Amino acid sequence: MGNCCGSPSTEPTPSLPGTSTQVNEVPSSKFSVSGTSDNTSNDGGLSITSSSAGNSRLSAAPASESHDEAFPEGQILPTPNLKIFSFADLKTATRNFKSDNVLGIGGFGTVFKGSVDEKTLAPCKAGTGMVVAIKKLNPESLQGFQEWQSEVNFLGRLSHPNLVKLLGYCWDDKELLLVYEFMQKGSLENHLFRRNPSIEPLSWQLRLKIAIGAARGLAFLHTSDKQVIYRDFKASNILLDGDYNAKISDFGLAKLGPSGGESHVTTRVMGTYGYAAPEYIATGHLYVKSDVYGFGVVLLEMLTGLRALDTKRPNGQQSLVDWTRPSLSSKRKLKNIMDARVEGQYSPKAAFEAAQLTLKCLGSDPKSRPSMKEVVEVLEKIEAMSGKPKESRTKHSTAHHHGHQPLPLPSPRHQRHHGTAMGVQK
Ligand SMILES: Nc1ncnc2c1ncn2[C@@H]1O[C@H](COP(=O)(O)OP(=O)(O)OP(=O)(O)O)[C@@H](O)[C@H]1O
Ligand SMILES: [Mg+2]
Repeated sequence: MGNCCGSPSTEPTPSLPGTSTQVNEVPSSKFSVSGTSDNTSNDGGLSITSSSAGNSRLSAAPASESHDEAFPEGQILPTPNLKIFSFADLKTATRNFKSDNVLGIGGFGTVFKGSVDEKTLAPCKAGTGMVVAIKKLNPESLQGFQEWQSEVNFLGRLSHPNLVKLLGYCWDDKELLLVYEFMQKGSLENHLFRRNPSIEPLSWQLRLKIAIGAARGLAFLHTSDKQVIYRDFKASNILLDGDYNAKISDFGLAKLGPSGGESHVTTRVMGTYGYAAPEYIATGHLYVKSDVYGFGVVLLEMLTGLRALDTKRPNGQQSLVDWTRPSLSSKRKLKNIMDARVEGQYSPKAAFEAAQLTLKCLGSDPKSRPSMKEVVEVLEKIEAMSGKPKESRTKHSTAHHHGHQPLPLPSPRHQRHHGTAMGVQK
């Protein structure tokens, strides 16, 4: 999550941020560079002129009613279609926010497992009803409020099989909570980087499936009536359901794309160190293609099994992009950086194609990067050619990299203070 501007509204119903003041608070999980003015008109004023505008749901529609099936290509709802929960409801659903129920801790709050009735979404006893994920924001965080508001405005109105479903929210005095569909397998970050012996390493095929799902989610955002720039694409924001279908979560930083023939939006620089596009960090100019760069970084993480940024790696290897970029264009060098845990599961051609795609996404000129639609098409081709894996020779090795030139690191002012990209446990 992470939105940069807009002052807290006093309205009890979340509204689109209007005239707003700059919030100087810097969330602990993100970098944020002050000084650039933010185009606040892009913070969530989604167009209602979408062809699907007539397809709004009643706000109390049963959560089990799947609109993903009715609208496989996704849709923009005219108004957020969300259930409003009381704080007492969510206290019951999480057994008073019991620590046993914690699913994870992010930059702005803690995510709990909870139970609600499948039809009415009323809280119910653990073990009965439907499992949901409930994010409880740290009450003192003003930045968290902005993120919460952006999440409700964007995610509450966007519906697509590859975007996590926001079911409702609670705004009770100082308490801000968000209620999401539960994603059984957690985040891609957990699978790629947490060396948990009980979690099987993701196979090559599953990595492709996840990449395709996440790419479809981004493609939907970029091609929707009003382009939406996601701005916070990273492994921890890609959640996986029981079948490893990928869904993008956390729209706290999302912005509407440029209008009036502009190529970019000028905004305060915020994001996660290691994933943000260089032009955005340097100028505050945010392009739709800035998301494509972030996607390239995640692809690189999937190919290598290494974090975008890890200060525990030796000098010259801490920034994954800088370190491995020269290896992506050489078939011979590519072998050295591929994750040993998927060795034998892909053809050299498939790996090389994936590396070429990664390189294109990481292009320094945003215009040179492919669209997410093109990315989806290439990934689907790679998936098709990877259909018959060679005999698996999976190794559980962590030290599988060698032969790289040390490269300079980006400026430390963009470092995350904690979290995934730094390789530090939250
Ligand atoms: N809908 C969900 N279903 C299951 N687990 C979830 C869900 N949402 C979040 N989680 C878990 O909670 C963790 C924390 O999520 P959160 O979005 O707060 O932080 P983050 O993505 O790690 O960091 P950031 O604050 O930068 O977004 C996730 O990594 C994931 O493991
Ligand atoms: Mg997140």
